[in-house]
Amino acid sequence: MKRILSCMQPTSHLHLGNYLGALKNWVRLQEEGAECFYGVVDLHAITVDYDPAQLKDATREIAAAYIAGGVNPYNSAIFVQSAVAGHSQLMWLLATMAQMGKLERMTQFKDKAGKDKERAGLGLFAYPVLMAADILLYRATHVPVGEDQKQHLELARDIASTFNTRYKVDHFIQPEPYIMGAATRVMSLRDGTQKMSKSAESDLSRINLTDDADAIANKIKRAKTDSEPLPDNMNALKTRPEALNLVTIYAALADKSPEKILNQFAGKQFSEFKPKLSELAVSKLAPITARMNELMSDKEEIDRILAKGAQRARAVAEPVLKETMDIMGFWKAP
Ligand code: TYM
Repeated sequence: MKRILSCMQPTSHLHLGNYLGALKNWVRLQEEGAECFYGVVDLHAITVDYDPAQLKDATREIAAAYIAGGVNPYNSAIFVQSAVAGHSQLMWLLATMAQMGKLERMTQFKDKAGKDKERAGLGLFAYPVLMAADILLYRATHVPVGEDQKQHLELARDIASTFNTRYKVDHFIQPEPYIMGAATRVMSLRDGTQKMSKSAESDLSRINLTDDADAIANKIKRAKTDSEPLPDNMNALKTRPEALNLVTIYAALADKSPEKILNQFAGKQFSEFKPKLSELAVSKLAPITARMNELMSDKEEIDRILAKGAQRARAVAEPVLKETMDIMGFWKAP
C-alpha cells in the first residue's frame, strides 16, 4: 500500500510552480486510491521573516488551495504541522543523527541564508531535518514534490537509513521522491534560468493561484521570450530557456507531452502562442481561484477540516513516535 505525504509552506500565495510541480500530482495520487497526508508546514514557514498576525490566514489559504486544486478532505488528511506535536519531537531525535556537513551542502539553505551565513537561524539550517521528520513520522512511502526538493528527500532517506543501522532495526521506511509530470521545475516568467518562486521580487515572474484572468493574461503577455518562432523539436529548445518554460507550462496544463505541444505550434510566433497559453491557463486556474475565494469566506469550515485532518494525522504519527522513542531507549511511565 502506498502512503503519500507532502507539504507546502504558508509563506505566501501559492504559484503555478507549486500547482504543476506538486499539487496537481497530489490529486492524481489521491485519485489512484493511495492513502494521502497533505500538510501545511507552518513550523517551516517561521524559519524566514514572517508576520505572526497573518500566519493563521496564510495557513488556511494553503489548505483552501489544496481543496480548490482537487484534494478531497474526506479522502486525504489535510493537517497543520504545528497541530501534530510529533513533528517537532521527532525532529529533535533525528537531529542527533543528521550530519552538519550534509546540512551545509543543502542548496536551499545556501540560497536562503544568502551571503551572511553567520546570521542565519538554526531553524533555517535544520529545516531539512524537520522535513525528514514530517515524512518519517508517517512512514510515508512516496513524497510527491517538485525537483527543487530532491536534495532534501535524499537527506530524509539518509537519516532513515542511519537510524535503522544505528539501532539495528527496520523501523523507518525509505521514502521515494515522486517527481512527476511535464513541469517538475517551472521557471520564472522574467528569466528562464531562475525557478518560479514565492520570494522573487517581481510579481510578474510568477502566476499566483490568487491572480484573476486579467492578471494571468498580462503576465503571460509580458513573459520574456525570444524572437524566433517555435521549433518542431525539443532539442532546439535547449538553448532557449524562456521558450522551453512556456512550452512546458502549456504541456503540463494541457496534460500533454511538450513534444505534442511543439507538433501543434511548430513555426508559430509567440504572438500566436501566448494568447493560446493565456486562454488555457485561465481555463484551468480560474475555477481553482474562485473555489479558493469561496472557501476562504468560510474560515470555520476550513478550521473544521483542519481539526479533523490533525486527528487523522495524530492517529498515525503518535504510535510511530512512541515506537521510535522505545527503540532509542527512553524512559516511559510504567
Ligand atoms: P514549498 O512550499 O516551497 O513548495 C511546495 C511544493 O511546490 C514545489 N515547487 C515547485 N515545483 C515546480 N516548479 C517550481 N518552480 C516550484 N516551486 C516550488 C516544491 O518542490 C514543493 O513540492 N520543503 C518543502 C515543504 C515541505 C515538505 C515536507 C515537502 C516541508 N516538509 C515534507 C514534502 C514533504 C517546500 O519547500 O515547500
